Amino acid sequence: MAEKVYQCTVSAPVNIAVIKYWGKRDVGLNLPTNSSLSVTLSQDDLRTVTSASCSKSFEKDTLWLNGHAEDISASKRLSVCVEELRSVRRELEKENDSMDKISQLKVHVVSINNFPTAAGLASSAAGYAAFTEAIARLYDLTWTPTELSRIARQGSGSACRSLFGGYVSWEMGELHSGADSVAVQVEPVEHWPEMRVAIMVASAAKKGISSTSGMQATVASSTLFQERIKNIVPGRMQAMKQAIRNRDFETFAKLTMTDSNQFHACCLDTLPPIFYLNDTSRAIIRVIENINAAAGKTVAAYTFDAGPNAVVYFLEENSSYILDALHAVSKHAEGWEESARNPTSVKIDDV
Ligand code: PMV
Repeated sequence: MAEKVYQCTVSAPVNIAVIKYWGKRDVGLNLPTNSSLSVTLSQDDLRTVTSASCSKSFEKDTLWLNGHAEDISASKRLSVCVEELRSVRRELEKENDSMDKISQLKVHVVSINNFPTAAGLASSAAGYAAFTEAIARLYDLTWTPTELSRIARQGSGSACRSLFGGYVSWEMGELHSGADSVAVQVEPVEHWPEMRVAIMVASAAKKGISSTSGMQATVASSTLFQERIKNIVPGRMQAMKQAIRNRDFETFAKLTMTDSNQFHACCLDTLPPIFYLNDTSRAIIRVIENINAAAGKTVAAYTFDAGPNAVVYFLEENSSYILDALHAVSKHAEGWEESARNPTSVKIDDV
């Protein structure tokens, strides 16, 4: 008779930070040097779908990411997520005799992104959020998203924010254990449903330097970064939360662009310097500046993560002329990825 297979499938969205996480105070536990804040994008457009299963016939914990097999035990980040959840399940099984002893079985995880992996489009955020949630559900753990965020954070920092929809903060916390370094929802998507996003893929190539090595080089060498984490981000987090609560787009947009610029300035202030933006990214910045100048107010905001791809925030009421302007420029620019030539509007969403 075939062995019983336990299985569950989940999906997780991408989130794009408007106050950036950059820098770890504890590399092992993925504890950040500053709090951060993001917006969760609609899963209709960008998502990771992940299935987790376990069976007596499985020989080792394995992940297939977009079809490539990886031994989970060979990756510290993946195995920490599995082992923490497995030990919780093991305790529950000890307390409850009727529970199947699935904590003793190996897991197989299959994960698929419908967007470029590791090109600065937050693939690790959606990936680790889905990975953590799939295993938690496989083990029937009834944890809140904030509780799960503590585990997902250890896979990839920004993943903790992908467990919520809408507007989400990752509070850096103070404890050495990291127990208070978790994500919380600032406002749900319904609070500001007019918010839209356009994604412009300037290059779908894998990024040159990983965010982990990049950020630790910045921590070690940038004096601008020290100023940022001590004197800038705490106030900016408060101002951003207030802008979201007030649905004040201009303040939201200015803070978003300023924070993206400062994050890339810290990258440039790193020894050796890190360049994530390319000519296309800079052309997009100029287009947004022109759109805002023509409107006489700030109607669009760009932000860039650890890669050259732009994410542009705007409100639904301005959607058609902003997309037209982005489209017009991209049509004539050289060296753009095909997908950047037709930027479309993506909604903000719930999970
Ligand atoms: O979660 P990581 O380790 O991939 O780091 C992400 C860092 C940024 O995307 C640049 C900023 C952020 O807050 O998402």
